[in-house]
Amino acid sequence: MYGKWIAKAVIQKSISVLPNPQRANYFFQHHVTRSTTLAQDFLNQRITWSRLHLDAFDRMGGDRHDMAVAELGSGWYPIVPLCYFLAGASTVWMLDLEDLTRPELVIQAVDGLLEASEDGRLDNLGIDAERLERLRDLAQRTHGNGGEITLDSLGIKTMPGDARTVELPTPPDLITSNTVFEHVDPVILEGILRRFAEIAHPGMVMSHLIDHCDHYAYVDDSLSVYNFLRYSDRAWRLIDNSVQPMNRLRASEYIGMYERAGVPVNEDVRHGCDPNALIGEPLSPRFKSMEPSDVSCTSSHVVTRFA
Ligand SMILES: C[S@@+](CC[C@H](N)C(=O)[O-])C[C@H]1O[C@@H](n2cnc3c(N)ncnc32)[C@H](O)[C@@H]1O
Repeated sequence: MYGKWIAKAVIQKSISVLPNPQRANYFFQHHVTRSTTLAQDFLNQRITWSRLHLDAFDRMGGDRHDMAVAELGSGWYPIVPLCYFLAGASTVWMLDLEDLTRPELVIQAVDGLLEASEDGRLDNLGIDAERLERLRDLAQRTHGNGGEITLDSLGIKTMPGDARTVELPTPPDLITSNTVFEHVDPVILEGILRRFAEIAHPGMVMSHLIDHCDHYAYVDDSLSVYNFLRYSDRAWRLIDNSVQPMNRLRASEYIGMYERAGVPVNEDVRHGCDPNALIGEPLSPRFKSMEPSDVSCTSSHVVTRFA
């Protein structure tokens, strides 16, 4: 049971006490684990997520033409914002605590998407052929002169800061996030939802994908996706870190938060909700007292259309 994940937890905890944890984390990933090379699985997953959000936007009656989109917690690679550009967005704001984009990561994301377009991986995204050509041109011109691809020229803008106080020049038509909610402190997350409700206009859509699993299970095959639920809140605070924290909220707790923040829920699609999956899993009293069908859910897709 005590394997790779403990090592990762210790490293992240150590990085989290350094003066600039995100920069230190990037340095570690780049120079030690070499994980800042875009993996195909990572790229494909974000293409799929972009499609899920765009499909939700369509279902809720959104108009993709010249849409303005905000992505909460974009992280290092602007893959999802680039997919929105290809799908018709005139503006995409990347909301994150810091501007994490780097020229070498932007180039990898653009090249990865151009390659994906050639073998049909973007086919279900509903992309605009003229925009794809624009991206290809931009990449060729940039590679040709060794320059940087400027996201700004595609209408993609970084908006560093806490999303609880975000000010956007115009109201967005769509706000999305991918595996962000589970990393945000519940009090802060509720504040972010309240802020999004404040800036919402009638018809604005929100689409958020939430992963409820113990993320250490992704680096350690020996670990169950429910492993972190065995710890009391006190013990978890000691294990958890600020580089990639996990709030351990279960599916229904997010919905409760939406209600408190005054954000309607039009769709709440949950996956992996199998109470039998918890058999043999040691759960701390907090999780033991909850509905097993709720505790066992491994991911959710929550969609809102503001009235
Ligand atoms: C796990 S990462 C997101 C990964 C990314 N969405 C992806 O698909 O690779 C979570 C991100 O949320 C950002 N974040 C956390 N709290 C935030 C806040 N209050 N406002 C804006 N961004 C925040 C973090 O800085 C971090 O980059």
